[in-house]
Amino acid sequence: MTTTLITGGAGFLGVSVAHRLLSRDPAARVHLTDLAESPRLAALRAQHGGRILFTVGDLGDAGFCRSLVDADTAGVFHFASLVSGGAERDFPAGLRANVHATMHLLEAARLAGSIPRFVFPSSIATFGGRDLPRVVDDATAQHPQNSYGVAKVLGEQLIHDYTRKGFLHGRSIRLPAIVVRDEPNSAASGYASGLVREPLAGRAYVCPVTPETRLPILSIQRCVDLLVALADLPPGALGDWTAINGPGISPSAGEIAAAVQGSGLARAAITFAPDPAVMAIVAAWPKDWRAERAAALGLQADPSIGAIISEYAAGLAG
Ligand SMILES: NC(=O)c1ccc[n+]([C@@H]2O[C@H](COP(=O)([O-])OP(=O)(O)OC[C@H]3O[C@@H](n4cnc5c(N)ncnc54)[C@H](O)[C@@H]3O)[C@@H](O)[C@H]2O)c1
Repeated sequence: MTTTLITGGAGFLGVSVAHRLLSRDPAARVHLTDLAESPRLAALRAQHGGRILFTVGDLGDAGFCRSLVDADTAGVFHFASLVSGGAERDFPAGLRANVHATMHLLEAARLAGSIPRFVFPSSIATFGGRDLPRVVDDATAQHPQNSYGVAKVLGEQLIHDYTRKGFLHGRSIRLPAIVVRDEPNSAASGYASGLVREPLAGRAYVCPVTPETRLPILSIQRCVDLLVALADLPPGALGDWTAINGPGISPSAGEIAAAVQGSGLARAAITFAPDPAVMAIVAAWPKDWRAERAAALGLQADPSIGAIISEYAAGLAG
């Protein structure tokens, strides 16, 4: 029986993708791994029980990575990461989680010999620098301006090469900021979720970027759709380059705040108090964004920020 390995398996995307894989196929089995348990896993276990294996460990340990992959591993979603703000604050921890872990996991996959489909969430943070064009597309040169972005470029390149060598079938997607996170992590893009989550929960939100700040965003529902669709692609479907831009829309922070306040769903106020450390990271990222290769594969963005807010509110209502 084949298994799908999900690293970062107690995280936001890890649990969401696991739920989708287990819901759509009664025969599916997932092996989740992370540094520690999280409350998100309780709901997953309650629904899917015995088809989930959860292993605690640090992917910075090559031996641990080798213990995770074997001849039955048909798919890997490599979500483990110390995200943008965290990796910027703690360089050694970022190197371990974002560079060493990816290298160890790829080697583990090569040595296991199962040639899995390997899905890697790269990021808009791979782009930046003074030569960044007004509109960023699939072919824009990647000049990342923070450690997290550099690590994601390295991951894209290594996954491409492991694919070229026939060790696995890699698919990397440069994701926009995914909204609406259930709880904050150290991502500098976290404001895009906070602007929706906090006022709808009745908590006042102080936004750490200016109202004019814009970056591409994508709902968690569309994100899971596209990650699973990428895993389902036949080998070779991405041609001679295995990394593509993910679809997204780019409302400003002020536009998100206005949409939340105009929705009639907000129960608390939004104010703006830009944090220089957060601004320094997000100001370098793309604003206008194209994802033509994703569109050609049928992978779509959300229609509007209003639609994202409505879908989130409907999810809260159960
Ligand atoms: N959520 C987004 O907006 C977004 C956007 C672009 C890219 N991504 C990428 O998608 C992936 C998942 O994002 P997420 O929102 O679920 O993040 P998350 O922070 O919710 O989950 C990441 C998980 O990785 C685990 N982890 C960190 N270091 C580890 C290590 N050394 N060994 C084992 N596990 C470790 C953490 O414990 C955490 O549970 C990440 O790679 C992230 O860079 C996310």
